[in-house]
Amino acid sequence: MVRMKKKNIIHNSTESKIIYDPSSNIAYKTVKTKEINEQWIAMYKEFQKTAPVVKIIDMIDSNTYTMEYIPNIIATVDSLTRHWAKEHNFIRTKNNFINLHNCITESWQCAMRISKGLEQEMFWANEDLKLANIAVIKDKHDKITFKLIDADSWAIHDGYQSVDTFYQSQLKIALVMQRFI
Ligand SMILES: Nc1ncnc2c1ncn2[C@@H]1O[C@H](COP(=O)(O)OP(=O)(O)O)[C@@H](O)[C@H]1O
Ligand SMILES: [Mg+2]
Repeated sequence: MVRMKKKNIIHNSTESKIIYDPSSNIAYKTVKTKEINEQWIAMYKEFQKTAPVVKIIDMIDSNTYTMEYIPNIIATVDSLTRHWAKEHNFIRTKNNFINLHNCITESWQCAMRISKGLEQEMFWANEDLKLANIAVIKDKHDKITFKLIDADSWAIHDGYQSVDTFYQSQLKIALVMQRFI
């Protein structure tokens, strides 16, 4: 068996472990405090067709799934809210903030739309839509784009519950925009 090289571990915390496999160019995420299932995979795959979110590929087992590897994450949006972080000043432009705002609201709109197909009081929602779960990506042409990561923070909820972080993120973005623009 080939030992997984340490450099291939992207992230390792009490919540999850993310490993990059260069031979297939995909990332494996193992969640440590919850389980995933086929229903979740199917729902997220439908959601990712339209939402600006990281694309998942397959379920490996009840704790692990594969996803696209995003090679050029330069920061998470969380770091843009720290006014002393001068290295991020170039990202704090009007159009980048508009794109960031769109990324969050579009994902929520897509989730609302897909929730209409769920029975009874069920909603497809994200209970952890914090700014640390939005990646700042620098593409080949040095263009900045935004994408929601942490796919497993989306789930089917019984009722419109645990959605506070979405509204908190919106408010935070507005306050940061006020300060910088
Ligand atoms: N698909 C990916 N490609 C590259 N890096 C990723 C990817 N997903 C996550 N990461 C990196 O791993 C970190 C943690 O990911 P996340 O999914 O938010 O884990 P957690 O569930 O533990 O919060 C991110 O901030 C990012 O730097
Ligand atoms: Mg996260």
